[in-house]
Amino acid sequence: MGTIYFDNAATSWPKPPQVLAAISDCLAEAGGNPGRAGHRLSIAAARVVEDARELVAGVFNAGDPSRIVFTQNATHALNLALYGLLRPGDRAVTTSVEHNSVMRPLRHLETQGVELTVVACRADGTLPLDEVRRALRPGTRMLVTTHASNVLGTVMPIGELAATAHAAGALCLVDAAQTAGAVPIDVERAGVDLLAFTGHKALLGPTGTGGLFIRPGLDVAPLMRGGTGSDSDRELQPGFHPDVHESGTLNVAGIAGLAAGVRFLREVGIDSVAAHERGLVAAFREQAAGIPGLTVYGPDEETSRCGVVSFNLAGVSSSDVAQMLDDSFGILARAGLHCAPSAHRTAGTFPDGTVRFAFGWFNTVDEIQAAAAALGELASWAARKVAWTV
Ligand SMILES: Cc1ncc(COP(=O)(O)O)c(C=O)c1O
Repeated sequence: MGTIYFDNAATSWPKPPQVLAAISDCLAEAGGNPGRAGHRLSIAAARVVEDARELVAGVFNAGDPSRIVFTQNATHALNLALYGLLRPGDRAVTTSVEHNSVMRPLRHLETQGVELTVVACRADGTLPLDEVRRALRPGTRMLVTTHASNVLGTVMPIGELAATAHAAGALCLVDAAQTAGAVPIDVERAGVDLLAFTGHKALLGPTGTGGLFIRPGLDVAPLMRGGTGSDSDRELQPGFHPDVHESGTLNVAGIAGLAAGVRFLREVGIDSVAAHERGLVAAFREQAAGIPGLTVYGPDEETSRCGVVSFNLAGVSSSDVAQMLDDSFGILARAGLHCAPSAHRTAGTFPDGTVRFAFGWFNTVDEIQAAAAALGELASWAARKVAWTV
């Protein structure tokens, strides 16, 4: 039995061979601490980081690379943006399909005096823009939105949302954990103020990488303070980018891998990745329509989707379906609530959750067909099970 990996929304796998090679080369040839010394291994490490920063800035059309701050993951980047900007008395608006990486910091900030409005999405994860406009009352500090739901795959119109936020005098923070590398993003065209991304999903880097784009002119208070290798004569945190937000030694080897992932994507083209994943979702939905008892969630329109699709099989829990897919068919998927209970409440799938297939660049239509055949078998088994129990 081979392996069919459909858990790319959790982390992508496999990584391109170039990513593995870049990590190994970095450790062998650029193994110093970046920015901490004048010797060649330190300078080589700093070059790895700055090259990666330029590549990442390029992929998001972010202009000045220093406005890309490296973090451990998207959660770290989101915490930096939220805790760095929201203060007691501020008002924030978000959506009901957010991941807990957004929801938990916001709910905690609520206990610290930040007023929070959660705009209810429709069951397919689409966001009623009129409700967003209503929620963005004058004086709102920030609109926080995911770019794509990690449960339903629904892609949000971030350009329209940023413009709506700005019209109300608010900032717009986008959680691009599911879209960076999978859906083209142009931060300048979209006009977003902050964009949190992760390196280990569609950007094809290793775990332990991610970052935050902070638009020029916007000051965010640092989450951590400490050694940066710069301004070492001072006991106060440097105020300049990116050092203000990069205290402590960075994950240089991971960042080298992330850069190799981004290079790979530049060759493939993120447009092609988006089209490929949309095609796989469409193929899956077509096959799923013929499987009795299978309910697929999320929007119908393929253009407002990324490569994530959630479903349930009548009469079988999502965790049992995922377990049987793994044990009997070698298909790896994630079941349950996907760290997004509010998204499941929105979809009507709380507390049991769903099975989630999350496709990536390396998945194929043949794999979709194999998965549909497996689900067909499970559906027949489930129907027989129901017949025996009545
Ligand atoms: C929408 C969304 N936001 C945030 C995260 C957190 O990403 P990370 O694991 O890189 O912190 C995820 C990961 O599953 C996600 O899907």
